[in-house]
Amino acid sequence: MMTLPVLFDPIGHPDSPMRILSGIQPSGRLHIGNYFGMMEPSIRLQDEGDAFYFIADYHALTSTHDPKALRGNVRDLAIDFLACGLDPDKATFWRQSDVVEVTELAWILSCVTPMGLLERCVSYKDKIAQGISPSHGLFAYPVLQAADIVIFDANVVPVGRDQKQHLEVTRDIAQKFNDRYGEGLLVIPEPRIREETAVVPGLDGRKMSKSYDNAIDLFEETEKKLRSKIMKIVTDSTPVEAPKDPTDNYIVQLYRLFATPDEVGEMEASFRAGGQGYGHYKQQLFERIRDYFAPMRERREALVKDPGYVDDVLSSGATRARAEARKVIDRVRAAVGM
Ligand code: ADP
Ligand code: TRP
Repeated sequence: MMTLPVLFDPIGHPDSPMRILSGIQPSGRLHIGNYFGMMEPSIRLQDEGDAFYFIADYHALTSTHDPKALRGNVRDLAIDFLACGLDPDKATFWRQSDVVEVTELAWILSCVTPMGLLERCVSYKDKIAQGISPSHGLFAYPVLQAADIVIFDANVVPVGRDQKQHLEVTRDIAQKFNDRYGEGLLVIPEPRIREETAVVPGLDGRKMSKSYDNAIDLFEETEKKLRSKIMKIVTDSTPVEAPKDPTDNYIVQLYRLFATPDEVGEMEASFRAGGQGYGHYKQQLFERIRDYFAPMRERREALVKDPGYVDDVLSSGATRARAEARKVIDRVRAAVGM
C-alpha cells in the first residue's frame, strides 16, 4: 500500500486522552430517557477524557421544518444540557451546523457507503412509520452521523441502546473508508451503552420516546403536571392489600434510576409484602424525580435569563470544534485525492 504523508498524530497514542463524543437532536422537549440514555453518561464522562458534545440541528432538519421552531429547540436544548451539568470548561459544546465541514465529510463518506448498509437501518423505517416524510436526508441520516463522529477522531460515543445500529453503521463506514484509502485514517469508535439505562421505559412500558406520548419530561412545567404524569404509569389491577410482583413493574424500573440499591430493595420488599396500592409507590417516585431535578431546574431558570452566556458557550465551542474537524477533513481530502 502506498504510504500516505503523515498529516496527523498517530491514532491511539498512549498519551492522547480518550476522545468522547455524542450528539442529540433538538427536536422538542427532553425526557428522562434522553437524560439517562445520553445526557447523564455524557456529563459523567466529561471528567474522563476529551469530551465533545453537540446539538444535531442538521439531523433535526429531517423532521423539523419550521425555522422558528428549530432555532427555539436548539436554544432550549443548549439551556437544558448546561442546566443538567454539561460544563463548557470541560467539554466542547456546539451546534452541529456551525461546523460545516461535517457535511463535506458526509458526502465523501456517502461514496464509500453501500446502499445495503442504509437499507438495513431500522430507524429509517421506524421514523416513516411515525409519520416523518421519507426524504433522502432521512435515508442518509446515518452517514451524517458517521461523519459527526469520525470528524473528531472520537473513540467513545455514549448513547442509549436505540443508537446501537447507527454506531455499527459508523464503524462499517469508517472501516470501508480505511480499506479503500489507508488503514488508520479514520478512528473506529466504540458505543458506550450503559446496561442499566440502555432503555428507559415510558409510562406504558414501551421505550420512553417523544413519539409515543409516554414520556416524562425532564422539566415538566409544574409539579402538578409531573405528578399527574407519574400517576398514569400503567400497572395491573392487583388490589391494594395483595402482594405485588415488582419484577416487571414500571414504577420500580423508573425508581431504580433515582434511588440507591437499598432503597430499591425496600420498595421491592414492600411490593411483595402487600398492603399498599400502586398510588403510594407512584407518589414515592414522583417525590424522587421532583427532588432529583430540582437543582437543575434552578440552574435552568438562571440560564434562561442569560441568553448571552448560552450564545457565548456555543460560539466558543464551535470555534474549538471547527479547528479539530479541520484536521480530519484535511487528512481525508488529501487521502481521497483532493
Ligand atoms: P426520542 O425517542 O424521544 O425521539 P431521540 O431518538 O431523540 O429520542 O434520542 C436522543 C438520545 O436519547 C439518544 O442517545 C437515545 O439513545 C437516547 N434515548 C432516547 N430515548 C431513550 C430511552 N427511552 N432510554 C434510553 N435512552 C434513550
Ligand atoms: N442520531 C442521534 C439521535 O437521534 C443523534 C446524533 C447525531 C448522534 N449525530 C450523532 C449521536 C453522533 C451520537 C453521535 O439521538
